[in-house]
Order: sequence, then structure tokens, then C-alpha cells
Amino acid sequence: MKNFFLTLHMISMCLVIGTLFLQSLSVVFRLRLKSAEEAEGLRKTQNRIHKFIYYPILGVTLISGTVLAVKTGVFTESQWIYWKLGLLVVLIALGIQNGKQIKEDSLPKKYAMMVHIAIFIVGACMIYLATIKPV
Ligand code: HEM
Repeated sequence: MKNFFLTLHMISMCLVIGTLFLQSLSVVFRLRLKSAEEAEGLRKTQNRIHKFIYYPILGVTLISGTVLAVKTGVFTESQWIYWKLGLLVVLIALGIQNGKQIKEDSLPKKYAMMVHIAIFIVGACMIYLATIKPV
């Protein structure tokens, strides 16, 4: 049963990080579009992905991660899980920020870029912690 939840956790976390990475980059790309129609079309697609792919798959990652944590007794035996959960809060905040940027018509490119880069760094740190399990 653990292997089932580990597989689910791996697939869903790849989709969470991948979706956030591309969604935040597409906000930067949308700023470059010349026509309002094109920008509106892209915004609708971004909104749908955010609501119907990102949030549900984040739920799958949280549930499968919690099952794994309970099964492996990691909360009592390790420290890395707490660092990972701290970063998870930051990642969720960045996801909310990405959702807000999708709704905005115009915003400084540097803010969109900052969210994109932060998602990459936080995602990489979480994967590093979970893979190496340092302490
Ligand atoms: C977007 C959020 C998350 C990402 C990117 C992520 C990433 C990962 C990765 C890459 C691994 C693989 C480690 C390995 O190589 O064995 C892993 C395992 C694990 N994750 Fe997550 N995770 C996330 C959310 C969570 C949450 C919310 C929890 C718990 C509440 C959790 C608990 C665990 C546990 C306990 C393992 C270790 C399972 C084992 O010992 O085999 N994860 N996670």
C-alpha cells in the first residue's frame, strides 16, 4: 500500500510543481501578447488550469504526503519533514499569488518573473529535502 501512495505522491507532486512552473511562466508570456483578444483567450486557459488542474492535484499531493508521513512515522522520527512543510506553506502562497496574477490585466514583468523563479527554487528545495532526508 505504501508503494501505491508513494507513486501517487511522486506523480502528483511532479504535476503540482510543473503546473505552477509553467503557469507562472505563461503569465510572463501573456504580458508580451499584442492583442487584447489573444491575452483574454490565454487568461481563460490559465484560469481553467489553475482551478481544475492545479488545486485538485495539490489536494492529491497533500493527502498522499500525509498518508506517507503517518505510515513512515516521519513526524516523530525526522526533522526534514517540518522544513518541507514550511516550504509547502511558501509554495501554496506562491500558487495563490500566481492565481492573482492570472486575473490581473497588467502588472510589472519583474513581479511575474519573481513568482516564477521563487516557485522553481522552493520546489527544488522541497524535492531535495524529501529525497536526501538529511536529518
Ligand atoms: C508540493 C508538495 C510536495 C512535494 C514537491 C513533495 C516531494 C516529495 C518527493 C520528491 C519525495 C520523494 C522522496 C524519495 O525519493 O523517496 C517525497 C516523499 C515524501 N513526502 Fe512529499 N512532497 C510534497 C508534499 C508533501 C506533504 C504535504 C507531506 C506530508 C504531510 C509529504 C510527506 C512525504 C513523506 C513522508 C515522504 C517520504 C516517503 C518515504 O519515506 O518513502 N509530502 N515528497
